Amino acid sequence: MSEVAMNFGQTMNLMDRNIRVLESGEALVTGVTEWIIACLQQAIDQRGRATIALAGGNTPKAIYRALADVSFPWEKLHIFWGDERYVPPTDPASNEGMVRQNWLDRVPVPSANIHPWPTQAGSPELCADQYEQTLVDFFGLGAGEYPNFDLVLLGMGDDGHTASLFPQDRALQATGLTAVGAKGSEPRLTMTAATINGANCVAFVITGAAKQAALKQVWAADGDDQLYPARRIRPTGQLWWWLDKLAAAN
Ligand code: 6PG
Repeated sequence: MSEVAMNFGQTMNLMDRNIRVLESGEALVTGVTEWIIACLQQAIDQRGRATIALAGGNTPKAIYRALADVSFPWEKLHIFWGDERYVPPTDPASNEGMVRQNWLDRVPVPSANIHPWPTQAGSPELCADQYEQTLVDFFGLGAGEYPNFDLVLLGMGDDGHTASLFPQDRALQATGLTAVGAKGSEPRLTMTAATINGANCVAFVITGAAKQAALKQVWAADGDDQLYPARRIRPTGQLWWWLDKLAAAN
């Protein structure tokens, strides 16, 4: 990781990265939640609506729970997922189910504003194709165009994956908006890096010492994005890194 000492709780702009390192998990949840709300409110003020693509996994759960306690014009927010497991929303592994349980079931967001992966489409490939069409229709995309989400939230695994773009996985070769990959033998559905990179703002939220080594590889000046797919995330808009001090430790 860079030689620059990490100032806890300060916003740093390091090699065009916006980095915030928070002292504790609680401070991180509060900081990220407030920042997300400000980001989405600015989009609504400017364009009358906001669009967000969410991360799954464990890290963001507390953030989703905190968002449920915020007074916000939820009817102006459209919710997507950056990736999903190929399971029904009732399955404990479902990212959709996790977000609904921790957040969406607790706020008055219209069901038409919630855009989950159609994981009962019959096959992972059909699911990915249908979600690609959802993105094309919602954003009014022409050939070769990508969605411009107001915000994409991402986590990162200790292997440097993000969304469901896993090291050396076939999904890394996909050229469309969505892809079918795998985590071992488990099929995974994901937005491609190109789709994520079309966003106005992308924010990683990463905690824990287990992520240190991968983060160092992702941030290295040179590296292999087949081995560390999070390296592929280079949005045309802003890129933010929200870290706790364990993940950020040199
Ligand atoms: C998923 C996520 C995945 C996650 C990382 C980190 O579907 O699991 O989208 O990319 O963000 O694996 O997961 P944790 O937050 O649980 O460490």
